[in-house]
Amino acid sequence: MAVKDHEDRSRKLHFNAFIHGSGHHTAAWRQAGSTAGELLDVAYYQQLAQVAERGLFDAVFFADGHAAGDVENGPLWNLEPLTLLAALAGSTEKIGLICTISASFYQPFPTARMLASLDHISGGRVGWNVVTSMFDAEARNYGMPALPAHQQRYERAEEFIDVAQRLWDSWDVDAVVADPRGKYANTGKIRPILHDGKHFQVEGPLNVPPSPQGRPVLFQAGASSQGRDLAAKYAEGIYAVAYDLASARDYYGDVKHRILQAGRSPENVLIMPGLVTYIGSSRKAALAAQAEADSYLPVEQSLAQLGRYIQRDCSDWALDEQVPELAPASSFTGPAGRYATILRIVEAEKPTVRQLLGRLAAGGGHCTMVGTPEQIADGIEQWFLHGGADGFNLMPPLLPGSLEEFVDRVVPVLQRRGLFRTRYEGSTLREHLRPAA
Ligand SMILES: Cc1cc2nc3c(=O)[nH]c(=O)nc-3n(C[C@H](O)[C@H](O)[C@H](O)COP(=O)(O)O)c2cc1C
Repeated sequence: MAVKDHEDRSRKLHFNAFIHGSGHHTAAWRQAGSTAGELLDVAYYQQLAQVAERGLFDAVFFADGHAAGDVENGPLWNLEPLTLLAALAGSTEKIGLICTISASFYQPFPTARMLASLDHISGGRVGWNVVTSMFDAEARNYGMPALPAHQQRYERAEEFIDVAQRLWDSWDVDAVVADPRGKYANTGKIRPILHDGKHFQVEGPLNVPPSPQGRPVLFQAGASSQGRDLAAKYAEGIYAVAYDLASARDYYGDVKHRILQAGRSPENVLIMPGLVTYIGSSRKAALAAQAEADSYLPVEQSLAQLGRYIQRDCSDWALDEQVPELAPASSFTGPAGRYATILRIVEAEKPTVRQLLGRLAAGGGHCTMVGTPEQIADGIEQWFLHGGADGFNLMPPLLPGSLEEFVDRVVPVLQRRGLFRTRYEGSTLREHLRPAA
């Protein structure tokens, strides 16, 4: 679909704060004064959510995985996100709360039940990032020797979402009458769903009355054709990965077209690429902040990891020299996606080896903006007005610092330019995403 430059000045940016450990830079936890000791403390996340709420973000977002992973090299998963959201609901008022649930491991009935409960607890602020999961180690914790094939996972995810939505719809909004002299609920307004599908058999109805949003808001992050189609059919928010505006525009145009093909309104589904920012009072200061974060990377390990990505021994590469020439993608036989990202970074940024390691350690193929608050706002405005994004999934490299700087220094610039809200207009997550809804 051709992407028109947007001239609609009433259209506003949207931001999610993607909260992950001590920050998205893999060495964030190694820094002096890092928050590595606070990652099991609910107060840490409550404070971060309050900062994002001060910045009028649509939501905080938590990813999730089901295997412990390489914990020697950093904290991976800490508190389970659904549980954490219940605590955050009590310490925030307006901001949306998005957790990740895997359709490959969970069941639709308890998922619909937990999300409806959280939607009640939070006053209608819950979102669900539906994923199909990525690693066999996760599957081995759910009685499977390996993950089912990609196509099968997506087929199950589609049935999973369909069942969850029908469960949320299984009570009419006025089914509960709570009449002390009569009945509590009107059973004529509650229906079983009698689902008998390939992956799930669910009688229904749900055992939680309708929550403020009815259906909690669905997010998705599909990159493959199947993932994009699933997002186009069901999601109200999409997390994208785009290295630069050209790739963002390709993704945006393709997915908005798929949304239209699925019979939905493209403007009602927000596309939010990931964004890593390093902010300083001058570009030099911002670059120095980025270099400082990179300086905490363990060199040997990072070179070994790079060697695995590009399938070449780089253990003797000089850190402060330019990355040696890499073989073209056509002759590379390993995993193609990450290699293409590395080629793109090397071509566009001509980084030193140390800079490349840092780029890969913070956000990888996601957009990275380094500069003053005005320069970051310029970049955001460019993507927003030229068909690359409806908003961003902010991935602060260092927490809480990078989030605080964005909220206190970049948000006011965007507000002055009329690109971002100056107060919450609604109180549910869906109202934040679509103020006129
Ligand atoms: C911002 C973002 C967050 C994601 N969070 C998770 C997550 O928490 N758990 C997970 O298993 N996958 C997660 N993914 C992976 C996606 O769900 C998806 O599998 C990936 O983008 C590859 O696309 P595909 O599944 O269409 O091949 C995330 C992806 C992005 C871009």
